[in-house]
Amino acid sequence: MAVVVKDLVKIYTLGSVEVQALRGLNMTVEKGEMVSLIGPSGSGKTTLLNIIGGLDRASAGYVKVFETEVTKLSPAELVEFRRTTVGHVFQTMNLIPTLTAAENVELPMVALGVPKAERRKRIEELIDVVGLRDRMGHKPGELSGGEQQRVALAAALTNDPPLILADEPTGELDTVNARIVVDYLSKVNRELGKTIIMVTHDPAVARAADRILRIQDGVIKTDVAPVGAEVAGPAVYAEMLKGRIAEIDAQLAKLDEDFRGGRMTGDEYVERQTRLKQTRSVLQEELHRLGVVH
Ligand SMILES: Nc1ncnc2c1ncn2[C@@H]1O[C@H](COP(=O)(O)OP(=O)(O)OP(=O)(O)O)[C@@H](O)[C@H]1O
Ligand SMILES: [Mg+2]
Repeated sequence: MAVVVKDLVKIYTLGSVEVQALRGLNMTVEKGEMVSLIGPSGSGKTTLLNIIGGLDRASAGYVKVFETEVTKLSPAELVEFRRTTVGHVFQTMNLIPTLTAAENVELPMVALGVPKAERRKRIEELIDVVGLRDRMGHKPGELSGGEQQRVALAAALTNDPPLILADEPTGELDTVNARIVVDYLSKVNRELGKTIIMVTHDPAVARAADRILRIQDGVIKTDVAPVGAEVAGPAVYAEMLKGRIAEIDAQLAKLDEDFRGGRMTGDEYVERQTRLKQTRSVLQEELHRLGVVH
């Protein structure tokens, strides 16, 4: 197993308020697997990813990543774990705007004291992996959003970590660029054998994985293979989509209620309603694609 999570609990305390973000979550990911993590906003996806990646600490429970029991590590050991075992890709590209694509990929290696000649060689390899050889000298502002995320992926791979954690890596991209970035993540999974856990709101993106885990209220609610991967897949997947649509309908109703009750501004109402409706139509489209009329 690449990742084993048992009875994971995370409680955030803000003054006198306690938020239980994870409520006894269990999951496993096999070596070389690519898994999508989906679920409503606030369900605990980022919290889970941050604990697996050693960026945050669990309140209770057990997390093992390859041979390391992450939940037992001291702060110093966590730093080492993050450096050697995990590559992170975030929603907003964390590239340095004044550095070129090649320099952004080089940076983590400079920090680790990798010799110059070796750095050069590694940059070339990684820039090739993400198909950006002719963009090496471009700064982030001179690259498309999708290209920037591919540079971020290359930078996450510099230390050759066996596990890649991606938190909505396509969140700010249009459909076409999202597709391209996901194709590169799949390629890194298949060709470099990296284990990947990817959080996404987009069902089309989620389907690129071997398995889709749906998290709700801090626990895993469903675990399905995407369409085509298995005979039972489509029906379960359609059920999951229907469940998500029902959830959005409930959120829309609640939104109407809140607006009528004067609990939000008109702008806020329109913005949130538009977002929910967009997500709903993507899910609906996906259902139609499966031949399910809802
Ligand atoms: N640093 C924090 N302090 C207090 N509460 C937090 C903190 N981070 C997250 N939370 C709370 O924990 C819960 C889970 O948050 P999390 O960020 O994991 O959700 P998410 O599934 O990633 O949501 P989204 O899809 O919006 O990114 C939420 O209720 C959130 O408000
Ligand atoms: Mg999140």
